[in-house]
Amino acid sequence: MAVMTDTAAPRGTAPRSEADAGPPSVAEQVTGRAPVPAELADGPFLRACRREPVSHTPVWFMRQAGRSLPEYRKLREGIGMLDSCRRADLVTEITLQPIRRHGVDAAIFFSDIVVPLIAVGVGLDIVAGVGPVVDEPFRGESDLARLRPLEPDDVPYVTEAVGTLVGELGEVPLIGFAGAPFTLASYLVEGGPSRTHARTKALMYGEPELWHALCDRLATISSAFLRVQVAAGASAVQLFDSWAGALSEADYRKYVQPHSARVLAELATTGVPKIHFGVGTAELLTAMGEAGADVVGVDWRTPLATASARVGPDRAVQGNLDPAVLLADRQVVAEHVGRVLADGAAAPGHIFNLGHGVLPETDPDVLTRVVELVHEHSRREA
Ligand code: CP3
Repeated sequence: MAVMTDTAAPRGTAPRSEADAGPPSVAEQVTGRAPVPAELADGPFLRACRREPVSHTPVWFMRQAGRSLPEYRKLREGIGMLDSCRRADLVTEITLQPIRRHGVDAAIFFSDIVVPLIAVGVGLDIVAGVGPVVDEPFRGESDLARLRPLEPDDVPYVTEAVGTLVGELGEVPLIGFAGAPFTLASYLVEGGPSRTHARTKALMYGEPELWHALCDRLATISSAFLRVQVAAGASAVQLFDSWAGALSEADYRKYVQPHSARVLAELATTGVPKIHFGVGTAELLTAMGEAGADVVGVDWRTPLATASARVGPDRAVQGNLDPAVLLADRQVVAEHVGRVLADGAAAPGHIFNLGHGVLPETDPDVLTRVVELVHEHSRREA
């Protein structure tokens, strides 16, 4: 199996640093972000987001920066998850690790969807082996006051890390991300991870006004968190509504879509592509696209050709190899990669990814091999 050895620097060319110098340009003042340099905007990832022809299908992996990498585990030894998210030097290094190792076409900022909640003062911890755990779950109207708007000064480590990263990444685009209101609300209402999201749904159905007020606050926070990342130089964003698949389409449209739509709409002036993803969302793909995404993320349950038909010709798709396939032998992996590429060819734009995050037990060499396979099998004249 081929293993990349040139781990000293990310693939790509010269670091871009000119964006940091001098007063803001007119474009920067209008959109709140520095213009994306031409060589970056013309790369396969951003071209695929815009449904333009590409020289090869771009590929990155959700959770590519994380537990599957021995260098990540080493760096995190003795450092809590939240502490590592609030140290710009660690965030930068962890975000770069999979770029060096796998040669993926995009980086995703290392953080967590609960980081902006903590930044506005919500008492919350990430417990190893459990996930986010909230000190005082959301119970009523008086809890709304705990969800004040996020200011850029609440997350200086994010601005710093993104700024360093865009210089280090050169031609490789950085994806910023946030959690969508429903998925964030689920953690706040349940107090931690939940299989059924029962309390969350009970609030949604039983106290719709309070539900909408909660989601409105969360949308304001998510939108601000994304705008901080874009203002600092991220070239695309992904809004994770990981648990939205718990809802019917009608309820999604009524209780969730307007809030996710506002988050995405508030990024419109930045001009960056917006990816919207959830798990088990086969029935929601049309509605999630209509929330204002340029790219709809698809889990492994729906073939990409079907997904593309559901999101329509004006949106690209991202996905959708089952992460568990990476634990099978290499022939099986190659077959499944080929199938995803063939299915993705039916879409007006396809970004190769997994159907959900990299599993911790994944052999990182297999991820590198998938990148090579995707690039080799999709190479064409742009
Ligand atoms: O790779 C790792 O899991 C280690 C670091 C870590 C992250 N989050 C990184 C992360 C840890 C320990 C967490 C805690 C956490 N937060 C969990 C438990 C993780 C576990 O299995 O132990 C969960 C479920 C959350 C909540 C959360 N965070 C959700 C629902 C999402 C959206 C993506 C998804 O998986 O559905 C996140 C985003 C997230 N957490 C990212 C990272 C690096 C960014 C997205 C990405 O890299 O794709």
